[in-house]
Amino acid sequence: MGEIVLGVSGGVAAYKAAQLVRLFTEAGHGVTVVPTDAALEFVGRATWEALSGRPVQTGVFETIHEVPHVRLGQNADLVVVAPATANTLAKAAAGLADDLLTNALLTARCPVLMAPAMHTEMWEHAATQANVATLRGRGVTVLDPAVGRLTGADSGPGRLPEPEQIHAAALALLAGHAHDLAGRRVVVTAGGTREFLDPVRFLGNRSSGLQGVALAEAALARGASVTLIGANLSVPAVPAGVEVVEVVTTEELRQASLAHAAEADAVVMAAAPADFRPVRCADVKIKKRADGHAPVIELVENPDVLVELVAARAEGRAPVIVGFAAETGDERGSVLDHARAKFARKGCDLLVVNDVSEGKVFGRAENEAVILSTDGALHDVPLGSKGALAHEIWSQVVRLLGREAI
Ligand code: CTP
Repeated sequence: MGEIVLGVSGGVAAYKAAQLVRLFTEAGHGVTVVPTDAALEFVGRATWEALSGRPVQTGVFETIHEVPHVRLGQNADLVVVAPATANTLAKAAAGLADDLLTNALLTARCPVLMAPAMHTEMWEHAATQANVATLRGRGVTVLDPAVGRLTGADSGPGRLPEPEQIHAAALALLAGHAHDLAGRRVVVTAGGTREFLDPVRFLGNRSSGLQGVALAEAALARGASVTLIGANLSVPAVPAGVEVVEVVTTEELRQASLAHAAEADAVVMAAAPADFRPVRCADVKIKKRADGHAPVIELVENPDVLVELVAARAEGRAPVIVGFAAETGDERGSVLDHARAKFARKGCDLLVVNDVSEGKVFGRAENEAVILSTDGALHDVPLGSKGALAHEIWSQVVRLLGREAI
């Protein structure tokens, strides 16, 4: 577990950094929050001290006997600045040191992650862009701001990326694998498909897409170009920088997956495609019948996209292919027995096995899994955030990609 300095500069998005403190402390990291004076105009000291469990100061002249302006940076395993305002980015680029945060940035020798948030005009200004280029040139990881609603009624690029995305990027930097997917193209499918009975009704499932989005965030943080094929996602936001392809039905998911897999180094099938679809979709809404009889819906099996991806690879494409298995144990076998049989049936390289007994997993922020590998390795991932599981999956993918030329 690491020591994190979380710099918070003065913007409305400072309140989202409170959630980030939670994500870090719940994952077991020590967090020292260093707000700027302007940040305290938005969220007060009490919030930061209560959430981090540590005292908070903004200047270099408090507790001066502890030389905090040097000690903080030197002891940190990671410095995160979220939100990073245009002013803080400018000060960091110029090497100014007029408060505790900018001092810590100058004394830190660990990785530094900045998550900008500001109005679109300020983000696009040549001065800000030059400062970001300078910082990136020095090895600082500067996330692109998200696109969407800003403080006022306007919208555009400038929103603080979601705390989960910043957390994923931080995990990658802390674990030292921030660039191990650089130059790689990855495809992640997420969400649950819908199969229509008539113009308003469909067969669907409870998959939210949260795990798939966490996978996309983690791959982005590790330097990959990421395509997310999303089926009816119900997630707060997809990170800026991820190419999103929206699909609704299993057939659309199939076509998009096969097309994008052709160019990919890895494909992760985290989506839950509907296994069956109605033989017919009525053109008009199905009405209740006067005789009180309910309609009988005839179903046909959908193609198995994962199996088709594996078959297509046999014809020459070579992405690493990862499947998911949501299993419950029964009288015929345990969760792992069913998973091993599915692994053999599907022919993929890795199978991420979730135990979904009693409604675990769906729509929840946490997940635990076992990852089966064709080389015989069995990797247990204890209960943790979906981001942490996502990183474990990518670590296994990186292992299988090996020293293959990019
Ligand atoms: N999958 C797929 N196409 C389908 C169904 C499933 O690509 N039509 C993929 C899922 O994305 C997942 C894996 O197959 O990666 C396992 O899905 P699951 O529903 O557990 O497997 P099924 O083959 O449907 O087996 P079961 O009989 O247990 O439902």
